[in-house]
Amino acid sequence: MRTIHVNTASAKYPVYVGTGLLAGFGKRLQKFAGKSRRVFVLTSPAIWSLWGKQFLSGFPKNQQPTALFLPPGEQHKRLAGVERLATELSIAGADRSSLLVAFGGGIIGDAGGFLAAIYMRGIPYVQVPTTLLAQVDSSVGGKTGVNLTSGKNLIGSFHQPLAVFADVDVLKTLPPRESRAGLFESVKAGIIRDPSLFRYLESSRDRILAGDSAALQRVVASSVAMKAEVVGIDERESGLRMILNFGHTLGHAIEAVTAYKKLLHGEAIAWGMLAALNLSRSRQLLSEKEALRIAQLIRAFGPLPSFRATVPELLEAAGRDKKNKAGTRRFVLTTGIGKASVVEDVTDAEITAALEPVLREARP
Ligand SMILES: NC(=O)c1ccc[n+]([C@@H]2O[C@H](COP(=O)([O-])OP(=O)(O)OC[C@H]3O[C@@H](n4cnc5c(N)ncnc54)[C@H](O)[C@@H]3O)[C@@H](O)[C@H]2O)c1
Ligand SMILES: [Zn+2]
Repeated sequence: MRTIHVNTASAKYPVYVGTGLLAGFGKRLQKFAGKSRRVFVLTSPAIWSLWGKQFLSGFPKNQQPTALFLPPGEQHKRLAGVERLATELSIAGADRSSLLVAFGGGIIGDAGGFLAAIYMRGIPYVQVPTTLLAQVDSSVGGKTGVNLTSGKNLIGSFHQPLAVFADVDVLKTLPPRESRAGLFESVKAGIIRDPSLFRYLESSRDRILAGDSAALQRVVASSVAMKAEVVGIDERESGLRMILNFGHTLGHAIEAVTAYKKLLHGEAIAWGMLAALNLSRSRQLLSEKEALRIAQLIRAFGPLPSFRATVPELLEAAGRDKKNKAGTRRFVLTTGIGKASVVEDVTDAEITAALEPVLREARP
């Protein structure tokens, strides 16, 4: 097991990455929660039927957590769902000393973290991420929230967990496409800040995709360590944390234009990274050789599903992205393997030139 320490302005907490963590979770939790706390677990019916028994096995018989459920899908990551869950918590007698465990993918983590942030003005929570994306990215950093019909993640709060338990064994039941999509966030981590992770992803691709548990632990731990370092320096995204959005300005636009139906988040980000790479190249921020190596690594974790979109549609959608300041387009570019920087003055013409080859390649 590896332990990564997150140390932000508002909280300090450990992230455990390993195998067999789920069965021992109930016992370990007592260290954080104390024996007397009531424990509630938010999960989805499918995850609970796959892993619920193992999750419960470490809790004493007379202290079994109370399970709450959110159905799968972005359409359920909404205020209405959080209100329903808060009502269930109150009826079940949850108080400010109760603890919530978010046991699932990024949707459960975001909605559960938000529920914990606002229930009785905030209760403690623990993340037990079950998707690769949630393990390498969304469970760490304290961003929580839900969607509006007008846009994703527009309601939310920063609320750091007490601890994160990432057990790579639970990834065994994850569909391969979901695994590959999550790995693009690790590819991003390597590109923007960790050249050693980048090389490991290059050299160990087959083992990682085959689900080798030592390889997965290495990838999850390094990705978390990268994110922990960044959010430790800039918890609220006023500076350095913006680099985590590499590939996301256009990736989010691609997701929006394709109505969140064609591509998983990580897949859209992979296309977005290819476009960001073109932009970095056109500004001569990195060598042709490095650009090719980066593009090759992104493609190695494909296939990337095709989609249809036009440049004006994407520019429109990118303009609405909450990460952009009015009038200027902020962009994260890579300046070499393991390096990124934020530029504020990217023009629509530059984005168009970077997008065109990507859209040609993506066309079905
Ligand atoms: N808070 C953050 O910093 C942050 C960062 C990135 C993404 N996100 C959010 O994360 C969400 C996406 O998360 P995701 O990619 O984990 O998707 P998800 O939560 O929808 O999970 C994907 C699918 O896998 C299933 N699943 C989960 N674990 C499983 C397992 N072990 N075995 C079998 N099936 C399993 C789920 O039921 C679901 O159908 C988005 O809403 C996004 O906005 C948040
Ligand atoms: Zn992302």
